[in-house]
Amino acid sequence: MATKKKSAGRPKASDKVAPAKGKLGVMVVGLGAVATTMIAGVEAVRRGLAKPIGSLTQMGTIRLGKRTDNNSPLIKDFIPIADLNDVVFTGWDIFKDNVYESAKHAGVLDEKTLLQLKPYLETIKPMPAVFDQYYVKRLHGTHVKKGKNKRDLANQLIADIRNFKKKVDRVVMIWCGSTEIFIEPTAVHESLKAFEKGLDTDDIGIAPSQIYAYAALSEGVPFANGAPNLTVDTAALIELSKKNAAPICGKDFKTGQTFMKTVLAPAFKARMIGVSGWFSTNILGNRDGEVLDDPQSFKTKEESKLGSLEYIFQPELYPDLYKDIYHKIRINYYPPRGDDKEAWDNIDIFGWLGYPMQLKVNFLCRDSILAAPIALDLVLFLDLAKRTPSLRSIGIQEWLSFYLKSPQTAEGLYPEHDLFIQSMKLKNTLRHIMGQDLITHLGLEYYD
Ligand SMILES: NC(=O)c1ccc[n+]([C@@H]2O[C@H](COP(=O)([O-])OP(=O)(O)OC[C@H]3O[C@@H](n4cnc5c(N)ncnc54)[C@H](O)[C@@H]3O)[C@@H](O)[C@H]2O)c1
Repeated sequence: MATKKKSAGRPKASDKVAPAKGKLGVMVVGLGAVATTMIAGVEAVRRGLAKPIGSLTQMGTIRLGKRTDNNSPLIKDFIPIADLNDVVFTGWDIFKDNVYESAKHAGVLDEKTLLQLKPYLETIKPMPAVFDQYYVKRLHGTHVKKGKNKRDLANQLIADIRNFKKKVDRVVMIWCGSTEIFIEPTAVHESLKAFEKGLDTDDIGIAPSQIYAYAALSEGVPFANGAPNLTVDTAALIELSKKNAAPICGKDFKTGQTFMKTVLAPAFKARMIGVSGWFSTNILGNRDGEVLDDPQSFKTKEESKLGSLEYIFQPELYPDLYKDIYHKIRINYYPPRGDDKEAWDNIDIFGWLGYPMQLKVNFLCRDSILAAPIALDLVLFLDLAKRTPSLRSIGIQEWLSFYLKSPQTAEGLYPEHDLFIQSMKLKNTLRHIMGQDLITHLGLEYYD
């Protein structure tokens, strides 16, 4: 369908999205496979060497008005998001490697591509990280900040943020660091006051990812979490996010297997097809796989991956179809595959009169190739949220659930995992903030 550019939107006076003027600084925690693939990719796109495939902000369109209006501009022409040429990267890592060296080590992008980008990638050198091996057993950090307690470490990160703010106009932070051990929220997470006291007393419930998030939110900087760690999904940090108008969203990039789950499960449910079992297994050989080989980090990932089916199937509403699903997830570290993960799903389903059937999905994907555009979109959309009066002070940006395995919601609200509901929610949020009519897909007006 041909797209026709019209004057984009009619912003309400109360919700005028501020323009994306000047430089957007992106602070990346963990310059590993995903982060370096994102950074190198952005530079390749800026130089016209490749297309930003997989990125909704760069390639997606949005329908405005009726189907007969024939008006579907690019999202980036409709809303004021930062131009890629205005994006500036920096970050922290527990190893000293610059982004070129780290990308080479990750082995996601080929040598030829990396060599073309080398002069730029070498300029991004990580700042020393806040790290404690207690929270990621398989890593031994060598490029790490020292501090007398967790409060001191948070203050050092705040100093890093303030320094960076001198060079750019706006800042967003994203966690692309390793998966930390499974932590349940405790009293220290119940309020901002308790959390700040916990920083002073080195509370064990405060992992490094929470210290970064605290530093970002304290500075009014939006924060995204690409890993499944307990990070901003606590009352304490939600409070800080609202207090300082620093948007947050859910966690854990929704890339391979869970992406497919949240497409297939809604299809079964829409047709009232029953499911008795869903066995998901993965092999991967990158550093992420090595970290997840530790049972405590795996537990964090498992919890994040398990949630989606339960919420999509709503067994309490459909006991005959989904009450007894056996759902199992396995992740095995298998070095020969590097970043080229392979996932298998065996799904036992049943149809009319209970007759059983099976579906097999074998996804040979590239983990970081799928994750990089998600990381980029999250950063650009969080920056947009920060510039939008009706979004910046509400804390959780549920409309970004589209990108995440574990969406975050207001207390008492169940999360939407269905990818197509999430996509509609995201696009309607964009229409809403730009003063456009929402699209309900009712469509009766075409038959008047
Ligand atoms: N690739 C995907 O498809 C995908 C999908 C969902 C979630 N994730 C998550 O994204 C995260 C990054 O994945 P990856 O494949 O890039 O892993 P990676 O191991 O290549 O990179 C992680 C980087 O974080 C660094 N790091 C660890 N702790 C840190 C700290 N406290 N401070 C600063 N740096 C720290 C490590 O040194 C490493 O360089 C992981 O938690 C992973 O589970 C990835």
